[in-house]
Amino acid sequence: MNCDRANSSFALSDPSIRIAPSLLAADFSRLRESVDALAGADVDTLHLDVMDGHFVPNISFGVPVIRSLRPHTSLFFDAHLMIQEPKRYAEAFVKAGCDHITFHIEVVDNPADVVRHIRDLGVSVGVCLNPTTEIETIESILDAVDMVLVMSVWPGFGGQSFMAEVLPKVERLRSRLKPNQRLEIDGGIAPDTIEAAARAGADTFVAGTAVFGQADPAAAVGNLHNLASRVAR
Ligand code: DX5
Ligand code: ZN
Repeated sequence: MNCDRANSSFALSDPSIRIAPSLLAADFSRLRESVDALAGADVDTLHLDVMDGHFVPNISFGVPVIRSLRPHTSLFFDAHLMIQEPKRYAEAFVKAGCDHITFHIEVVDNPADVVRHIRDLGVSVGVCLNPTTEIETIESILDAVDMVLVMSVWPGFGGQSFMAEVLPKVERLRSRLKPNQRLEIDGGIAPDTIEAAARAGADTFVAGTAVFGQADPAAAVGNLHNLASRVAR
């Protein structure tokens, strides 16, 4: 496999639909094979769900696992830090090979400082909102981030049901974001939910169970991509 990381940005000017498979739903005893199973699929991003057992009631994987995977794939590493202290750990995740860092607004006192810190590490930056967190909480950094991530489940576990009640927030965010800012949605994305999310204005779709929980992950990505592209704004 060619592991040159030519695609080292979120292709911010590219308005196209992007499926970001979440490694959380992969078989953790076969992570490398799981990533290889995406070869040939319409995918350039891997979503990495990092959990610390404090911000969310679950612990997933961290720096050593990401560092181990890095030499084996050229996929863009989209790290979703569900951790209490994103500023403290961001550098370690970038050094491990993450291309992008998303932090949760709920855990930071000075979001502008965290955005600056992550950007200074040389990667793009996203901010994430839990299902009931309002847009007003990110008002001061809305122009400064490359991506906003809306949770459509409560973070902590894969395989939960999609919360359609977050869609009005997605719509409002789309109308506020510039064309070069991505709008990602995460949780319960599957063939029966992705169209509603795309209609609301999301352009980047995290899918764990709906990709790695399927017999043919590459085909599952293709199907999701087609469904979202058909209705995307
Ligand atoms: C939840 C994670 C999600 C999760 C999505 O805390 O942030 O990325 O892996 O899993 P599915 O697609 O199964 O809902
Ligand atoms: Zn996630």
